[in-house]
Amino acid sequence: MLSPPDPLIAVKGLAKTYPGGPPVLRDVSLSIRDGESVALIGANGSGKSTLLKCLVGLHDISGGSVAALGERFQTRPGATQRRAIRRQTGFVFQHHGLVRRLSALSNVVHGFLGQPGSWRAFCQSLAPQSWREAAQETLGAVNLAHKAEARVDALSGGQAQRVAIARALVGKPRLLIADEPTASLDPAAGHDVMGLFCELARNENITLIFTSHDMDHAQRYGERIVALKDGGIHFDKPSGEVRDGDLAGVFDG
Ligand SMILES: Nc1ncnc2c1ncn2[C@@H]1O[C@H](COP(=O)(O)OP(=O)(O)O)[C@@H](O)[C@H]1O
Ligand SMILES: [Mg+2]
Repeated sequence: MLSPPDPLIAVKGLAKTYPGGPPVLRDVSLSIRDGESVALIGANGSGKSTLLKCLVGLHDISGGSVAALGERFQTRPGATQRRAIRRQTGFVFQHHGLVRRLSALSNVVHGFLGQPGSWRAFCQSLAPQSWREAAQETLGAVNLAHKAEARVDALSGGQAQRVAIARALVGKPRLLIADEPTASLDPAAGHDVMGLFCELARNENITLIFTSHDMDHAQRYGERIVALKDGGIHFDKPSGEVRDGDLAGVFDG
């Protein structure tokens, strides 16, 4: 019999304390399968962003262990491991973090940074033709092919966030991390962006972990909801099984 495949991410007993601060995460254990879509919820300051950063080695961890994308580490990943994780991960944040005076296409080409030869991506005119083509194609996937040459500061908030999604996807990551990707958008643009995330992640079999303040987004777009509270996991279940009673305690101090 075949043994089940290793999860894409496996966290055991993770603890995180920032220097001089109180513990943020005390004991978090979690495993995420390849291709899953997971919503991470919790009150402000409950450690959602911290957990995302610990998962991919952007922050040192204070205890426990992380295995992500085939790299296993305690405290912090080595430089080679960090690069391997980075190469396979796309990031999207609340504020799109695009270069506003550059075109949508140039910003998407920047998604190749972190890959071998990536200095070329700093200057789009030096980028290999294959990168520019991939960037154009990915802009098409977020329905913005017609805005490739538009400067980012001429786009709406929703369009800019779609460019950020294209930038995160252009390098064909296995894992997509989205931290409050819709928090700055109006409700219609927010649904647009979340719908795109899910569709693209499903089509490309990309694992998606996103945080949200919006329970409707968490339930509609996450197959599974993980709630953080008091430094630990308050609940972790398929989104269809989450009841109002489960949610009652999540956002109370
Ligand atoms: N870089 C940092 N240095 C020190 N403390 C931090 C840092 N980042 C977050 N914190 C603290 O850790 C706690 C959890 O923050 P965060 O992970 O951002 O929560 P959330 O994303 O759920 O709002 C907060 O008390 C916050 O002030
Ligand atoms: Mg946060």
